[in-house]
Amino acid sequence: MAFRRKKIAVIGAGQVGATCALMLAQRGLGDVVLLDTAQGMAQGKALDILQAAAVELFDSHVRGTSDYAQTAGADVVVLTAGSPRRPGLTRDDLLSINAGVVAGCCREIKKHSPEAVVIVVTNPLDAMTFVAKRELGFPRERVIGMAGVLDTARFRTFVALELAVSARDVQALVMGGHGDSMVPMPRHCFVGGVPLTELLPSDRIQALVERARRGGDEIVKLLETGSAFYAPAASIAQMVEAVLRDQRRVLPCAAWLEGEYGVRGLFVGVPCVLGGRGVEDVCEIALDEDERGFFENSVARVRLLVDDLARLGL
Ligand code: LAC
Repeated sequence: MAFRRKKIAVIGAGQVGATCALMLAQRGLGDVVLLDTAQGMAQGKALDILQAAAVELFDSHVRGTSDYAQTAGADVVVLTAGSPRRPGLTRDDLLSINAGVVAGCCREIKKHSPEAVVIVVTNPLDAMTFVAKRELGFPRERVIGMAGVLDTARFRTFVALELAVSARDVQALVMGGHGDSMVPMPRHCFVGGVPLTELLPSDRIQALVERARRGGDEIVKLLETGSAFYAPAASIAQMVEAVLRDQRRVLPCAAWLEGEYGVRGLFVGVPCVLGGRGVEDVCEIALDEDERGFFENSVARVRLLVDDLARLGL
């Protein structure tokens, strides 16, 4: 019987990459190859995850490596490599360090997994996804940035906490770039089918919007030595599942826009249909005047970052 398990390559065995490898294996989405250039890091974490499988009873094989040849023919590649934010590192420093890392990884991905759907996670997210698409040269369906699922998860969590209900029953949408200009959309948030705007006064909703916008920072401040990884990893796993199981989920993703929402040639967070081919469709929803204003402001911030890439010769 010609049966081939799905193969997922996770590039970068830091907190996000390794946690994501564990979650992918637990979901039984396929075999996972975890790669890191730091000798032993990916190998050690992969072996640890594999030993968890004996207790947790999942069947995915998980392997660690520093050799891209081992990732060959991956169906999905998750790109988490790069430097995290840390004190003393300017925005330009981070942009140039990570643009170099992402470009280098993408040259290897292109060589070894030319048919893969690539999910980019490295920050600054929207600019790094731009670099990835440029280096990969893949069609827009197969280069996607992970941010909207995470940002939306944060907003849903804060709404659920405020109303003391399950986050499972909170549906929401966050659009725009991944940063403090992101645009949570209260008008498109529903709790068990009831509009959020009917459940909370606008000042409370605004406080939840602000907390979601700074969701990543809140965790960086608490951890002091790193940034979030459990919710980012879970968000990636949901996207990988949508692709590998061809689920046609409607999820907010950073997608390459070609005129949608009046934007061309940039990655910006918008609702997408995510399925077997990657971004199967970009959903254009009607924005009211306020939403459009916030969205355009966020797009302008993403464009500034991409202009910085050119300014820095990256
Ligand atoms: C966050 C950072 C890691 O949102 O982008 O947690």
